[in-house]
Amino acid sequence: MSEYDTLTLAVGDDRVALLTLNRPTALNALSSQMMREFTEALDEVTRADARVLVLTGAGRAFAAGADIAEMRDRTFGEMTDADHLSAWERLAALRIPTIGAVNGFALGGGCEIAMMCDLLFAGEGASFGQPEIALGIIPGIGGTQRLTRVVGKPQAMDLILTGRRIDADEAFRLGLVSRVVPDDEVLDSAMTAARQIAGFSSRAVRAAKECVLRADQTSLSEGLLFERRWFHSLFAFADQTEGMTAFLDKRPARFSDD
Ligand code: HXC
Repeated sequence: MSEYDTLTLAVGDDRVALLTLNRPTALNALSSQMMREFTEALDEVTRADARVLVLTGAGRAFAAGADIAEMRDRTFGEMTDADHLSAWERLAALRIPTIGAVNGFALGGGCEIAMMCDLLFAGEGASFGQPEIALGIIPGIGGTQRLTRVVGKPQAMDLILTGRRIDADEAFRLGLVSRVVPDDEVLDSAMTAARQIAGFSSRAVRAAKECVLRADQTSLSEGLLFERRWFHSLFAFADQTEGMTAFLDKRPARFSDD
C-alpha cells in the first residue's frame, strides 16, 4: 500500500492495482498535486507489473471535477505554458486494462477520467455530467471528444451545452457505462472483474485492448486487418496452446505469459 497525500494505491498478490482518489472533503476535486501524484502512482503500477488497474474515489464522489478553487485565478499563460491538466491523459495511455468504479459524482474532469477507463462500473446512485459550461469553460481532458464518440452528437451536445447531470441508468442506456450495480457492490464488482481479467493470458488481454481501442481511431478495413494480425500473432505463444488444451481437457487454463 502506498500513501500519497491525495491518493492511495494498493497492488495485491493477484496483480490488481487499486488506485483511490482520496480528497473526500472536496469530493476528490482534481488538484495539481493530485495530478502529480496520479502520474507517480501510474509509474508505480507499471513498475509493479500490475495486470489491471481499478480506479475509484473515496467517499461520496468518484471526482467532482477539476479543483475550481485552484483553477479560478489561473491565467491563460499559466494554463497553456504548463499544458495544465494534460497529464491526466496518462491514464488513457496505460497498456493494461483499466476499470473505473464510480460511486456518487463523476462530474467534469471526473467524468472525463471515468471515460478514459476501459470498463466503467457505476453504482445505482452515481451521477455523470459535464457541467463546465456553467463555469464559463468547456471540458478540457476529452469530454467533447470521448463523450461524443460514445454517445453521439445529439446527446453529447445536450450534456455539454446544458451541463445537466444524468444518473447511472441513463448513462448505461447511452453506452457510457459497462454495468450498473448496487452502490455497495461497485468496488467488489470491479475488483472481481479485474481479477478475472488478470487471470487471462496477458498478451491476449493486451491484444484485445489494443484492437478495441483501434476501432475509434481507424477505418473498418484497417481495424479488421489490425485485429487479424493480432489474432494470428497470438498463435506464436504457449498461452494459446494452453488455453485450448485446457478447454479440451475440461480443466482450468494455467496461463504462463509464454
Ligand atoms: C473544488 C469542490 C469541487 C470542485 C466540490 N467541491 N466540487 N471543490 N472543486 N470541482 C467542494 C465544495 O466546495 C465543498 O467544499 C465540498 O466539496 C462538498 O461539496 P458541496 O457542493 O457542499 O456538496 P453538494 O451540495 O452535495 O454538491 C455536490 C456537487 C457540487 C453537485 C458535486 O459540489 C458541485 O457542483 N461541484 C462542482 C462540479 C463541477 O462544476 N465540476 C466541473 C469542474 S471544472 P466545502 O469546503 O464548502 O465543504 C472541470 C474542468 C475539467 O472539471 C478540465 C480538465 C480536468
